[in-house]
Amino acid sequence: MEKSRTEQQIAQAMSRVIDYYAACDSTQIAHTLCVHGYTRMLAMREGYDERKTGLLEIAALLHDIGCPSAKWKYGDSQPIHQQREGMCIAADWFASDPSWLEAQDAQWVVDVVGAHHNAVKAEKLGFEVLYEADLIVNLFEGYYPVDYANVYFHKMVRTKSGKQLFRQLFARWLNKD
Ligand SMILES: [Fe+2]
Repeated sequence: MEKSRTEQQIAQAMSRVIDYYAACDSTQIAHTLCVHGYTRMLAMREGYDERKTGLLEIAALLHDIGCPSAKWKYGDSQPIHQQREGMCIAADWFASDPSWLEAQDAQWVVDVVGAHHNAVKAEKLGFEVLYEADLIVNLFEGYYPVDYANVYFHKMVRTKSGKQLFRQLFARWLNKD
């Protein structure tokens, strides 16, 4: 069966980001595919339409592309550095292939890459499920201490599906209420 336009756009993001990380930092690939998978799951559980789900998937695939160059330039991947680097790279990728996404959709993905650690922007731009998916994977990977899962759950998880998934994954770290 022929792929839908959205599926083609997601496949292009997947291929592009894997080529990119394979050339500069292949350790990012597993994290990226994991965040993508959780983002897709949460978007589907929230009942988002195909277009919104697809854009969230593309943003999830691209969300950390600023990390390698932030590490080269600043010696770290602090949000302020990697988000700014990521925005520039994402904007370049979309500019180099205008047929990939509509201009306003490309701009939305660029804005999400540039703010993916920001809870206020997550709500404003509507990427809460990506924000929550990244939080989950960062907890599993030890980037954030899993002992704080309860604090993160109450402070940072906003969507119904995110709360449900958090309860499934981190039950023993959450306060019973
Ligand atoms: Fe991430």
